[in-house]
Amino acid sequence: MKITVLTAYDFNTARALADAGIDYILVGDSLAMVAHGHQNTKKISLGQMLASTRAVRKGAPTTKIITDIPLSEVQKSKDQVLDAAKKIITAGANIIKIENASKETIEQIKLLRDNNIYVMGHIGYTPQSYDKPVLVKERDELFASAHKLQEAGVMGIVLEMIPAVIAKELTENLQIPTIGIGAGVHCSGQVLVSDDMLGRYNLFEPKFLKRYANQYSESVSAFREYIQEVKEEKFPSQEHSY
Ligand code: KIV
Repeated sequence: MKITVLTAYDFNTARALADAGIDYILVGDSLAMVAHGHQNTKKISLGQMLASTRAVRKGAPTTKIITDIPLSEVQKSKDQVLDAAKKIITAGANIIKIENASKETIEQIKLLRDNNIYVMGHIGYTPQSYDKPVLVKERDELFASAHKLQEAGVMGIVLEMIPAVIAKELTENLQIPTIGIGAGVHCSGQVLVSDDMLGRYNLFEPKFLKRYANQYSESVSAFREYIQEVKEEKFPSQEHSY
């Protein structure tokens, strides 16, 4: 059975995901773009990630939660990364996600694992280290990164924007699950940003994205109707008055 992952940053989205039976909720640093209007994921703070993790945990008390460690924290010393990871776990996450497989990242992952913290890796297009989305096609580099992460003890790896044929080979070759986003159907599971797939955040249209709803335009229509009804004194009617 494929593993299902979607993002949430707030209580109500987490509730809906838990009700729908999602396997894992990702409190991704896409929070920066989707909820705070930044151009990329780089500017989100640990405090903002912690606040979202707490809200998601309230909405989904028993679902496994993965939270991204923000760029501001991974640039600090190993001990500070451990400290940030402990705060994220205390806020309600079960697993910490860290991007890329650089020497520093591998050392950070090993330290977290030595402290019994579960870690998920993330390779391919890793938004914290790029300026814009790119398809990452270097097969040998991807294989080397994936194996370094597996040896460091990650429990799974997100593969973002890599050719499906490489994702298939990697998935067959690794002993841990792969979670694809723009990496084809052969990964062990799939992840999308909920706001993207719901059409709530419509400023990002990559080829890999399927929209399952069109909530942005539904919201605009509902807001317009409300504005008009208030102006015309149709709302509140007798039914909504005491
Ligand atoms: O931040 C995020 O939402 C992510 C997913 C795109 C995998 O890392």
